[in-house]
Amino acid sequence: MSDSTSKPAGASTTGAGAPAVSDRNSLTVGANGPILLHDTHLLEQLAHFNREKVPERQPHAKGAGAFGVLKVTEDVSRYTKAALFQQGVSTDMLARFSTVAGEMGSPDTWRDVRGFSLKFYTDEGNYDLVGNNTPVFFLRDPIKFPHFIRSQKRLPDSGLRDNHMQWDFWTSNPETAHQVTYVMGERGLPRTWRHMNGYGSHTYMWINAAGEKFWVKYHFHTRQGMAFFNNAEAATMAGENADFHRADLFNAIKRGDYPVWDLSVQVMPYAEAKDYRFNPFDLTKTWSHKDYPLIKVGTMTLNRNPENFFAQIEQAAFSPGNTVPGIGLSPDKMLLGRAFAYADAQRHRIGANFHQLPVNQPKVPVNSYLFDGQMAYHHSGSAPVYAPNSGGRPWSDDTGPVADGWETDGEMVRSAYTLHAEDDDFGQAGTLVREIWNDAQRAQFVDQVAGSLLGGVRSPVLERAFEYWKSVDAKIGQQIEDKVRAGSAAEPSEGMGES
Ligand code: HEM
Repeated sequence: MSDSTSKPAGASTTGAGAPAVSDRNSLTVGANGPILLHDTHLLEQLAHFNREKVPERQPHAKGAGAFGVLKVTEDVSRYTKAALFQQGVSTDMLARFSTVAGEMGSPDTWRDVRGFSLKFYTDEGNYDLVGNNTPVFFLRDPIKFPHFIRSQKRLPDSGLRDNHMQWDFWTSNPETAHQVTYVMGERGLPRTWRHMNGYGSHTYMWINAAGEKFWVKYHFHTRQGMAFFNNAEAATMAGENADFHRADLFNAIKRGDYPVWDLSVQVMPYAEAKDYRFNPFDLTKTWSHKDYPLIKVGTMTLNRNPENFFAQIEQAAFSPGNTVPGIGLSPDKMLLGRAFAYADAQRHRIGANFHQLPVNQPKVPVNSYLFDGQMAYHHSGSAPVYAPNSGGRPWSDDTGPVADGWETDGEMVRSAYTLHAEDDDFGQAGTLVREIWNDAQRAQFVDQVAGSLLGGVRSPVLERAFEYWKSVDAKIGQQIEDKVRAGSAAEPSEGMGES
């Protein structure tokens, strides 16, 4: 059979590299006869197709990314000895942006937090900073995370998204107030990924060459300026083009319009953490910029699109556990939980040797005792596979206090963090609403919260939601309640889904 499709020169091969005889016609007995079992090319095509997908990320399934470079323009060596943060150093990197709750095919303009994942291929191994477009998070204990994500996803029976479930979780966990305020405000609807800021969110440790330790928070401010959709625009876009953000980033880079972010850090001297007015390891809190002003570090530019989405973005594996010398974690319980969760997810999602894939591979030589497993590609030849060994293969043996450690003492307990002088669940959310936002932003926020509360949220969750917002700000809370009561009297709503 022939048709007019133009045929490029050359031919395809089987996975084993032998010529594949035909990509158009299966092997049959006569033109109309049965297909033959020994058409191994057909069998290989069908069988491999069945295995084309890997499980999508549990949260943050919908996203995309690009490669780029981090350039350090300032001298921050008094705070960290990390090679990538030394003045004048440029480091190749990968960024991936995402929504949290939606599945891989969901619209990327739905209201949500946006992921801001960065992988730096440094001279000392890969450093990953896996943050969001907001400086805080919903929770402060990792044991709540699976419950939180499930409450934002889908109902067990109908498979629908559900405002009632979302508000039930949020109002039962008042520490969510600060982050929910951000998400119900403008930042829940960034116009593009290029027009949003990124944050490490957690507090991390920096260690300088003298071994002195500091606590840091990372801020990536967009040079494109922050820009947002309003509800109507985002809803229209979700219907018109579910991949709007993905396309925007790809097309901008393709036309040479490379997005740039300025990287700054807030630095807290190690000893000040103990008595700072907010617990500096509580992920639901920010540090006042008056107390800890921004210190410029450098710029991040995205300038290269992936050549293959699956290989370089879907199989990208970011983990907050990937640190390098000069950078450490912190006593933030969420961060410590995350240090386990990501690589475990990736062993399941991609495979035990996910770190050997080109996009995840460090550019430095590896001498790892991670041995064999599915799809092992790099190997240590016949070198000893155990440590210590007498065969001359190096192994590590540091003892004593660790460079990136902190002091802790006490009996084992199950407990919330100790409160610092100004710690509570609602204070910083109230400051955001009253002191950072203007009237237009406050009005839009009231509309947004009231609108999503109208969509199927029932008693007693509804009353809890009014109390929640009155605790953030009495006036705003009352406005939300009035609007909801007026709205539900006018048209009782049983809406569900995206808030
Ligand atoms: C204890 C709390 C948390 C747990 C257990 C957790 C767990 C996970 C898991 C399992 C994934 C999928 C990873 C993969 O399949 O490759 C993921 C993705 C992600 N998480 Fe978390 N997460 C937590 C909190 C956070 C926080 C606080 C942030 C931001 C500050 C965050 C940002 C992200 C981002 C940006 C991604 C997408 C990574 C990518 O682009 O591949 N997560 N999370």
